[in-house]
Amino acid sequence: MAGSVSRRGFLGGAAAASVAGTVALAPGRAWAEGVTPGRIRLSVNGKAYEIDADPTVTLLDALRERIGLTGTKKGCDRGQCGACTVHVDGRRVVSCLTLAIACAGKQITTIEGIADGATLHPVQQAFVDCDGFQCGFCTSGQIMSAVEVVADDTVGTDEDIREAMSGNICRCGAYSNIVDAIKQCRGEH
Ligand code: FES
Ligand code: FES
Repeated sequence: MAGSVSRRGFLGGAAAASVAGTVALAPGRAWAEGVTPGRIRLSVNGKAYEIDADPTVTLLDALRERIGLTGTKKGCDRGQCGACTVHVDGRRVVSCLTLAIACAGKQITTIEGIADGATLHPVQQAFVDCDGFQCGFCTSGQIMSAVEVVADDTVGTDEDIREAMSGNICRCGAYSNIVDAIKQCRGEH
């Protein structure tokens, strides 16, 4: 008995260490809910999915390759570009460094899940209004980050916005327009 408990704690701890800095994990909960051998149950955009996946599959690959939600982009696949940003329990994470199994029992939101039917999310609309993108490859990640930044009262100045968005790289250099989009959402112009 003691052996099984400590093994679960070890595995949960390993999962937490793998995503340090991306998702605040409750290891025991993550391993206790939604997990059967070879299968992982995920809640994405309010819909339940059960996928074939081993414990090493990232949330990004689960979303794109198992579930078919390809709006979340794979850029660097090593936590450096932000293209893969999604929300887990309302907080942004880079899904390429987040294990899918660690998200069992949590609420995952992707770019496909933020609009209200045909009505764009206010941040999506602001990106359109302010030309906050060019090629669009980084845009879903930028928008998912921006949704959190818009709601963050500790982010005030343009410099604060740039710092808060610094994990999202745009090779097209749309940064100033992205700042404008965030400010539009905050009612600043
Ligand atoms: Fe995840 Fe670049 S693809 S941070
Ligand atoms: Fe092209 Fe950002 S719009 S990388």
